[in-house]
This record gives sequence, C-alpha cells and structure tokens, in this order.
Amino acid sequence: MKTIEPCVLVIFGAGGNLSRRKLIPALFRLEVAKRLPDNMTILGCSLEPWSSEQWIAEVSDMLLAKFPDGLDEQAFERFRSRLYYHPNPPGNDDAYSKLRKVLEETPGFPPNIVFYMAVRPSEFPAIIDKLGVIGLLKQNRGWCRVVIEKPFGYDLLSAQSLQRGLYRHLNEPQIYRIDHYLGKGTVQNVMVFRFANILLEPLWNNHYIDHVQITHSETLGIEGRADYYEGAGALRDMIQSHLMQLLALVAMEPPVTLSAEHLRDEKVKVLKAIRPITQNSVHAHAFRGQYNSGVIDGKPVPGYLDETGVAPDSATETYAALKLFIDNWRWAGVPFYLRTGKRMVENSSAICIRFKNPPQDLLRHAYRESPHPNWIMLGIQPNDSLKMEIQVKVPGLDLHTRSISLDATYRKASEQDYDAYEGLLLDVIQGDHSLFLRIDEVEWAWRAVDPIIKVWSMERDFINGYQAGSWGPRGTYRLFDGENQFWRHSLDPEGADLQAY
Ligand code: BG6
Repeated sequence: MKTIEPCVLVIFGAGGNLSRRKLIPALFRLEVAKRLPDNMTILGCSLEPWSSEQWIAEVSDMLLAKFPDGLDEQAFERFRSRLYYHPNPPGNDDAYSKLRKVLEETPGFPPNIVFYMAVRPSEFPAIIDKLGVIGLLKQNRGWCRVVIEKPFGYDLLSAQSLQRGLYRHLNEPQIYRIDHYLGKGTVQNVMVFRFANILLEPLWNNHYIDHVQITHSETLGIEGRADYYEGAGALRDMIQSHLMQLLALVAMEPPVTLSAEHLRDEKVKVLKAIRPITQNSVHAHAFRGQYNSGVIDGKPVPGYLDETGVAPDSATETYAALKLFIDNWRWAGVPFYLRTGKRMVENSSAICIRFKNPPQDLLRHAYRESPHPNWIMLGIQPNDSLKMEIQVKVPGLDLHTRSISLDATYRKASEQDYDAYEGLLLDVIQGDHSLFLRIDEVEWAWRAVDPIIKVWSMERDFINGYQAGSWGPRGTYRLFDGENQFWRHSLDPEGADLQAY
C-alpha cells in the first residue's frame, strides 16, 4: 500500500450536486473501510452561511439519501469529528484571508492541503486566483494539491487559457484533472485485460477488429443542472472527457510501464492520431439529439425544453454520437463509434468490440441466415462484466450453430463494489497521477471535438428529437460505415441481433 499522509481536504462547492452525490458518500465509504488517514480533516466551503453543526446535519442528510438503509454508527462518529465548515460567500475576498487563518491556525489541522473544486467550471479560475494571491497554493508548510473537475474549458482555446491561469500559481504536479471514469473498476480492467493477457494482443488491430462501440446511456435527465448543462451539452459533458478516455485505453499501445507519465504518453499518441473532422464532414461523423417528453421506469418525464432553466429554443444536445478513425498502423480503417444520451431507456455503459467474419464461411449452407461475428464486451455499469461471444454447435443431429456468451465477469459475490471517486480521492491524497489527465490529453481531446462544437453552435434552428425512455434519435444509423453495423444495446447474445437505430 502507498504511504498516506494526513491532510485537510477543502471542498469548494460543498453543498452542491457533486459533493452531495459523489464526494461526501465516497469519503464516508473510505471512512467505513478505515482508509482515511488519522487526523485528516474535511473542510466544507460554500456559499451557505452554515455553522459547523449545520454542515454536519447536511452531511448526515447527504449520506442518508445515498445509504437509506442507515449508516455505520461508529464510522459516522469518526467521520463527523473530521468535519468543519467555512462559509465562502461570493465576492467576499475577506473569506479567503479567513480561510487562510482557519487552515494555518486551527489546532490539529495537518499542513498538507487538497483543494477540491466541486464548483461550476466557470467559477474555479477565480477561486484558484484568490487562493494563489493569498499564498495558499505555496508548498511552504506541506504539500498542496488542487483537484479540477471536467470539463476543462469549453473548447481548445479556453482550455489553454485556463491552463495559463493555473500555471500562474501552480506547477503541473500539483494539478489533478479528474475524469471519474478512470476510477471505475472495469475501465482499469481494460488495461489489465489487454496487458495481463497475451491472448488478445495478436487480434487487437485492424486485421481482426471490424469496429468498436463505446456507449454511455443514462435514464437521468439533467437533474437541476441546466445552468451548467445548457452551456455544455452531451458532447462536452461526456464525450470529450469520459468516452475519449475509454477510446484511448482501448486503442493505446502497451506503455513502457504503468507509471503516470508512460501511461499518459501512450494515451496522448492515440488522441493525436484521431483523424481530424473537417467542418464539412461534421454531418457524416456526428449526430445530435434532444429528448422530448416520455416515460422512464413507468413514470412520465418532461422534455428537455420543459426542464427548469432551459431556454425555450435551446439547441443543446442531450444525445451525441460520433464516428472517429484513428490513423495509425494498428487502427487504420477501423471505425470507433461513441454515443451518449440522457433520458435513455436504461443506464448502461459498455465497450463493445466486434470482430470481422472468418475469411471463409465454411458453415454457411448448413445453418444460418447471416454470419454471427465474435464480440468482446466490457460492461462498465450497471454491472462490471466481461463477455466474449462465440459460435458453438447446437446439440442435435443437424449442424446448426448458435451464439453463446463466455461470461468472464470477475466480481465475486463477496467482493465489494466501490465508487470511482473513492479510489481517485485516495490517489490524490497519495499523490498518484496515473488516473488523472495531463494537459496535453485534454488539449488533444478538444482538438477532436472542436470542429463539431463549432458547426453545432452555428446550426441552432433544428435538432433531432427523441422520446425520453428510448434508445435515442432515429437516424444515427447513418454514421455507420457498413450495412452490417448497428448499435449494440444489450450485452446478452440476443442483443447482437438488435438491428435497432
Ligand atoms: C458526469 C456528467 O461527468 O458523469 C454527468 O457531468 C453524468 O452528466 C455523469 O451523468 C455520469 O457518470 P456516472 O458515473 O454516473 O456514470
């Protein structure tokens, strides 16, 4: 186990959505697992004028919302003793000198500090600037790290200017650009699956792979985040960050070691090799949609335009699908299809890899209407899974075949599930950058999507609708390169036959 030193974790935006849904529950689970260092302190910072007692009550509500079956009482007692609160009203510069006093003078506060920016992307440059000016980002007393959530900027230029702002006060090793997808177990398993097994490597290229699909679908809508989502949309919110990272992990060359720099060097090479989409070819490579009203889990839900805070003529996409090519020796000619959508029929994230048909179809007369290619599928959520689809003979006198799924799902019933944020928070405290993004990764991912953003932002008078509770807009099939390519919606063998749009 890596060394872990106590620190103060300062959460800006402590009362917000991310803190409620992810950070506080993840920290609590680490408490239950006894993984938080002794003397570590959690200092909530947000606009609300709460006292520390009110903050503790808020935290308890956040935890009960996440764990309705009740909390481990001993763990909660330990956890509440770590909780402090500092009000940070907007425009009040005095709040920062007070914060400095709290951090430097409260007895028992460790000198190491993590600042977690769980605020809207537009807010954190000013916060960093204020922390920098007041000297809180210097590493005189102990180390100081800053965690920044995605999206990092809203296009390439803004990401670069944001970066210049950070470098005024921070050096690169202090910056942790988080992409919580990299903290998910199956996402890390992509590396293990590829690099701990020799079996796959000879097949992992354009000679054998027909195409790759990477999907994230969710039933949730925008959950009251219109102020952020209206300016982001699905392409920035999910594809530029999470799905591009998955693509990089699937496509990268084996790194020299699994050290942060070697890993990131290989991911950057993939992102650099993505064939640029020119503005003229955006329609052939990208498709967007916006959800209309519909039914999810038996309950009616409003359309995007009826969500609070959304402009009545908004053209923000809640669904985006892309076709990308990676122009390098390994992947030349293999399409990578990426798609994501809100208010879809189910929550599911998966990487599905379809193999080519055998060069000679020896069994074609005997048994089947169409060839069934092999698939390898990594299910990321709701369940971690690893499946491989192959053809076998149906028992009986005749030569018929069927697809079966070799299910290599690796979680044993006794093994605990954990949330991505748990591992990533520990990594920050331990100073491990491997699962965080380097600035060049972020820049190359923006370069890939920037032309699409430009075209979509100019074409604001029409956007394809899709019914909430469906698999997205009709028409996305036009992205596919071959007639026998289609979205795979299920990881079960019958899913391979879903010729759905
Ligand atoms: C976040 C996006 O980064 O990822 C959200 O901003 C999205 O819009 C979420 O819902 C999905 O993450 P997860 O871990 O819930 O699949």
